[in-house]
Amino acid sequence: MQKEDNLKDIISHAKEYGFVFPSSEIYDGLAATYDYGQLGSELKNNIKAYWWKSMVQMRENVVGIDSAIFMHPGIWKASGHVDAFNDPLIDNKDSKKRYRADVLLEEFIEKIQVKINKDVAKGLKRFGDNFNKEEFLKTNPNVLRNQAKIDDVENRMRETLGKNDLEGVYNLIVDLEIACPVSGSKNWTEVRQFNLMFSTELGSIAGDASTLYLRPETAQGIFVNFLNVQKSGRMKIPFGIAQIGKAFRNEIVARQFIFRMREFEQMEMQFFIRPGEQEKWYEYWKEQRMNWHLALGISDESYRFHDHIKLAHYADAASDIEFDFPMGFKELEGIHSRTDFDLKQHEEHTGKKLQYFDPELNKNYVPYVIETSIGLDRMFLAVLSSSFKNEDLGDGKTRAVLSLPAALAPYKVAVMPLTKKDGLPEKAREIMDNLKFDFNCAYDEKDSPGKRYRRQDAIGTPYSIMVDHETLENNTVTIRDRDTMEQERVAISELNSIIAKRVSFKALLSGEAVSLQSN
Ligand code: GAP
Repeated sequence: MQKEDNLKDIISHAKEYGFVFPSSEIYDGLAATYDYGQLGSELKNNIKAYWWKSMVQMRENVVGIDSAIFMHPGIWKASGHVDAFNDPLIDNKDSKKRYRADVLLEEFIEKIQVKINKDVAKGLKRFGDNFNKEEFLKTNPNVLRNQAKIDDVENRMRETLGKNDLEGVYNLIVDLEIACPVSGSKNWTEVRQFNLMFSTELGSIAGDASTLYLRPETAQGIFVNFLNVQKSGRMKIPFGIAQIGKAFRNEIVARQFIFRMREFEQMEMQFFIRPGEQEKWYEYWKEQRMNWHLALGISDESYRFHDHIKLAHYADAASDIEFDFPMGFKELEGIHSRTDFDLKQHEEHTGKKLQYFDPELNKNYVPYVIETSIGLDRMFLAVLSSSFKNEDLGDGKTRAVLSLPAALAPYKVAVMPLTKKDGLPEKAREIMDNLKFDFNCAYDEKDSPGKRYRRQDAIGTPYSIMVDHETLENNTVTIRDRDTMEQERVAISELNSIIAKRVSFKALLSGEAVSLQSN
C-alpha cells in the first residue's frame, strides 16, 4: 500500500471508530482543526499519563505545573516571539500556493538523500554480507557527488536562514531550480517573514483593550514560574519543570491530518542546569527521550535524530527525534539547548532577578536550560499510524487491527457474555464491575462473538473475556489476546493479575510487558 493511501485509511478508521473527527463538521469543518472523540480522548489521556509518569512522577528532580494560556504580553516580547517567531514564506505566482521557504529547501535535500539511500540499497543487494556501508559512503562517486550537493545547500541555508537574509533564501531557491509541486513552475514571489502568534484583545472598553497572545509554546509559563517552583519546592539544580498544555500557531501550511494544526498540545520540560554543563545534559536528554519512545515497542527503525540547520532564536544546539509517519520521516519531538536566553530576557524585561544560589559553588547564576518538547497530537499520530494494520488472515479474510501498546489502549479489556440469556450477562457484569476499578473496560453483548472480537481488534483492546456456560459451573472464562488471537481458559480470580502484567505503565517503563503466551 502507498504510504499516502495508508494515511487516508488511518483518517477514515480514526473517524469511523470515534478517535478523531474533523472539527465543526456539520458546518463543513474548519481547516486543520480536529476534535478527539470518545476513544481518541482515552488514547490521548493515556499518552499524557505515560509521559507524566516517566518525566515527572518517576523522577525526584522533576516537578509538573499547569500555567495559564493567557500571559502578560510582555512575556512574548521578552522571549523574542513578537519579533522573531516567524516563518519565511514564499508564494508561487502560478498556483497561488504558499510555502515555507525552509521546508522547500529541506525537501530538496531529502530528495538527494533518497538517491544516496537508493545507491546504498543497490550496493547491499549486490555485495550482500561483504558490503561495507561506511567505505561505500566514503568512496562511491555518485554518493560523494550527491553528498557534496547536500553539504553545499546546507551551508547556504545556514548562511541565509541563520542571518535572516531573505533575499539570499530566495536566490537559493532560484539557483536550485526548485519548482512548485502544484504548478510545476519556478515563478516565485520574494521571501517574506510571517509571525505565527495569534492575538486577541483583553478588556471590553474600546481603547482600553490591550493585545494578548495565545501562547505559541507552553515553555514560557515554566520560565516565568522558575523562582516560584524552585523556592516553594526547595529544588536544587539540576532540576526540571514539566507541563502539558495547549499551544497555538497561525501555521501557513497546516495539513497532514493532526500532524500540523493551529491549535495543538505540547508536553514540555525545562531542565535547569549549571552554565557550562549544557553539552552533557543535552546528550543525556536526547538519550532519555529516545528510550521513552523505544519502550513503547514500536520498531527502532521508525525513529531517527535530525540535527537542526536553522536554529530557533533561543537555541545553541537542537535536535529532533523524527518519526517515520505515513508521509515519511518528520519531526515528532525537539530537544533544545536554550542556554540562559529566556531567563536572562525575563530578568532584563522585568528588572527582577531570576537566579539560583548554588551552595556547592557558593555563587549565584542564571541557570542554563535543556528543553524537551513533544507534540501530543503528533505522538498520537505516531502511535495510531504505527499500530494500524489491515491483516490478511488467509482464505480471503482480513481484519483491521490496532496493535496499540497495551498500556495506551483506550479499553484494556472487553467483557462479553456468549449469549444474552441463561444468566451470562449478569455474570459478565459481575466480572466487569470488579475489573473496572483497575482497568477501563468495555461491555459488549451485541452480534456474534466473531464480530465482537473484530470490533475490539479495530479499537485496539488488548484483551477480550468471554463468559460462557462453563463459567457458571467453575468460575473460569476464556481470555483472548488481540495480537495473537489465541484464547486461554483461566480462573476469574486470576484475571486482574494477568491483565495488569501487560497493560500497566510499570510493564512499559520497566520493559516487562508480556503477551498472554508468556504468562
Ligand atoms: N518550546 C519549544 C517548541 O515549541 P517546537 O519545535 O516549535 O519547539 C515542539 O515545537 C513540538 O511541538 C514539535 O516537535 C511538534 O511535535 C509540536 N508542534 C509544533 N508545531 C505544531 C503544530 N502546528 N501542530 C502540531 N504539533 C506541533
